[in-house]
Amino acid sequence: MQKFDTKQLNDVVNEAYEKIKGDDGGNNADYIPFLAKVPSKLFGISVCLPDGEIVEAGDTDYVFGIESVSKVPTAILAMQQYGADTILQKIGADATGLPFNSIMAILLENDHPSTPLVNAGAITACSMVKPVGNSDGKWKSITDFLAGLCGSPLVLQDELYKSESATNFNNRSIAWLLKNYNRIYDDPDMSLDIYTRQCSMGVTARQLSICGGTIANRGVNPVTKKKVFDAELTSKIVAMIASVGFYEHTGDWIFTSGIPAKTGVGGGIVGVLPGVMGIAAFSPKLDGSGNSVRAQNAIKYITNKLGLNLF
Ligand code: DON
Repeated sequence: MQKFDTKQLNDVVNEAYEKIKGDDGGNNADYIPFLAKVPSKLFGISVCLPDGEIVEAGDTDYVFGIESVSKVPTAILAMQQYGADTILQKIGADATGLPFNSIMAILLENDHPSTPLVNAGAITACSMVKPVGNSDGKWKSITDFLAGLCGSPLVLQDELYKSESATNFNNRSIAWLLKNYNRIYDDPDMSLDIYTRQCSMGVTARQLSICGGTIANRGVNPVTKKKVFDAELTSKIVAMIASVGFYEHTGDWIFTSGIPAKTGVGGGIVGVLPGVMGIAAFSPKLDGSGNSVRAQNAIKYITNKLGLNLF
């Protein structure tokens, strides 16, 4: 992997911002009313290096919905609480090749819900988070862990949570289908509520890059210097992100960017290059598969320009 200095990184991040801010492709997510209202022009890029240095451009302080990126922290937390092998056995680490909210994936792969990075596996992961049977306790485990990864607490976006809760009929079906197959380990409605709440947390591009930086730095937050999770879980979570971070388009993503990354319909994407950086970008307009157009272009521009292809 090519070496770069911080000045070069700073130049490339600013270049990416200037070149890509005018891209106008895509549309805000509209299946969750709150997301449709976020100003479309917002755009931020943030990079967190293993020594804690942050390099950034644009709207990196704007708080947006973390959405599916939240599946990554909860997957790490579940592995930290149970061990990676138990998560492999109870949830899995397979790509589904299908959209994030696929019910067909549950029916096709009938021994586990595939991976904690799609809705079914994420709801199962929420059901497993300890203390089982205690909604407040689970929520504290998740929010404390998120704060550790991101270096500061995330705040629930109440309007987003209400909006998601009122429209999550497909996810309700997933939770109860998991119950039908004995693949959920706490009350289905409570597990789904925890999942919906974690998706509704507000996050900034800077916080997301620190989250990526903590994973890249093998579990030690580069900014706070605190240990958040065991180092050996880094290769496990990065393998999961690399195999399904962009759902059915993960192959195209990794082919063109060379960096494992996880998307969310709030417009955020976080990428992880172990030992090198966490990189996040945010902009609300999404392509047809629910991935931010500007955020994808920015991360690809930076990794390609700096020769940071993991492979
Ligand atoms: O499950 C859902 O519908 C949302 N709360 C999260 C979706 C999401 O971000 C999918 N990923 N791109």
